[in-house]
Amino acid sequence: MNEQKPIVYICTNLRSPSSPKPSCARRGSEKFLEIFKRELKAHGCEDALDVENSGCLGACEDGATVMFFEEQIWYGNVQESDIPRIVKEHVKEGKPVQELFIKRLMTRRKTL
Ligand code: FES
Repeated sequence: MNEQKPIVYICTNLRSPSSPKPSCARRGSEKFLEIFKRELKAHGCEDALDVENSGCLGACEDGATVMFFEEQIWYGNVQESDIPRIVKEHVKEGKPVQELFIKRLMTRRKTL
């Protein structure tokens, strides 16, 4: 049986330097997928999630943006150095990293 795993989206949208809007790829997100997968493997969690690059998630001003779809958890201003912490604390230990939340997008969640 092919079980559907929870999915994490990493925005890798790239806008022109002349665009008035920021974009996550300009903030380094194109490296995140590889780092995320490496960290999942390091923690023995590689089968826990599917991680995919995505287009714009609509949170450009808060990028780089990483979104745990099923949980509706949005991480913003994510740096490369935050990925190991997100994997360890959120994925492995089940404790989302609240200080990286995009709080304005977390309103649909009933509990944290
Ligand atoms: S460019 Fe990443 S959320 Fe819009």
